[in-house]
Amino acid sequence: MNINGKHFETIQIRNGDKPVIRVIDQRLLPFRFEMKDLYTVKEIYSAISEMIVRGAPLIGATAAAGMYLSLFEYTGDSNVDEYIENTAGYLESSRPTAVNLSYAVRTMASEIKKGSTLKMKIKIAGESAQQIIDKERENCLRIGEYGLPVIENISRKKKGKPVNILTHCNAGWLACIDYGTATAPVYLAHDRGINVHVWVDETRPRNQGSKLTAWELRQHGVPCTVIADNTGGHLMQHDMVDMVIVGCDRATTNGDVANKIGTYLKALAAKDNDVPFYVALPSSSFDWTIADGLKEIIIEERGAEELKYMEGLYNDKITSMLITEGVCNAANYAFDVTPARLITGLITEKGICRAERDSIMNLFPDKKSL
Ligand code: MRU
Repeated sequence: MNINGKHFETIQIRNGDKPVIRVIDQRLLPFRFEMKDLYTVKEIYSAISEMIVRGAPLIGATAAAGMYLSLFEYTGDSNVDEYIENTAGYLESSRPTAVNLSYAVRTMASEIKKGSTLKMKIKIAGESAQQIIDKERENCLRIGEYGLPVIENISRKKKGKPVNILTHCNAGWLACIDYGTATAPVYLAHDRGINVHVWVDETRPRNQGSKLTAWELRQHGVPCTVIADNTGGHLMQHDMVDMVIVGCDRATTNGDVANKIGTYLKALAAKDNDVPFYVALPSSSFDWTIADGLKEIIIEERGAEELKYMEGLYNDKITSMLITEGVCNAANYAFDVTPARLITGLITEKGICRAERDSIMNLFPDKKSL
């Protein structure tokens, strides 16, 4: 997407004697826009665990690039395919909930193993990592195209008055490669002159909504308003929300969805107020091996300091300040599970389906046997 009129994507593999992975340091946004170069598998691991990069599709793409980098660190003193397996396991342990991470490293590992020489493996790895990046970009564009008619229908019913869309966390282009998932239909609608307005949940404790979603929407000229996370229900009760669209970190074959903490509460409010609740996700965000989200999805717990300190700009410096007593206990669950029964539809790169097994498998018949 464009920043000050110039097109940017979230990740770039810069090939040379030794590849460099260039990403946007999302910890500094919206106050500073800085690219960061990653040279080693360890730096890739930290970029994911410390959330320099975040968002399920981008986490996957970054890990895929890490698998490519790993072949340049291979010393030859162990079996190369074992080394690749260990690297995949290491990168997979950087964060537990977004399934795109294991999807990407496992895809890379199986591709790399097809190479008979190290030179071949390096070539395959470079191409496969780029393919994962290109596929995620393509997926998001398709999600935009399939989601657009949902917004168009509401716009028609409202005779062109603003379509008020609520979103939670950042499932925008910053979380993907380009276009975003939840934001893709919004960008397409806006670019087609449809009147849209986005309610942006600030999304405590790391504020991906107020820091990232509001910034990228504003960069593209999409009207938006930042709200406290507890405001959405009130707005729905007063018919100020026409639809909710969020992203996904891991969806099950039954249609249960894990996403940023707080998504479940938005889904409950939407159900109580008959507001359509959509989840936008690429097929790489499905965990085809599990059905019951509440029982089977691992929910990341992050450090208490993320909750007890708030980061912001003070005297032109990004500063962190304590917002509770230092001795207080704090629990920081990063995701929750929205049961399929609260979801109106899943918007994927293959079309929209209901959040239920048969409907999902109709869109992805090749997954039936898994
Ligand atoms: O902790 P984060 O910032 O990685 O959480 C991101 C989300 O929950 C997104 O909604 C999800 O990854 C989908 S991104 C298209």
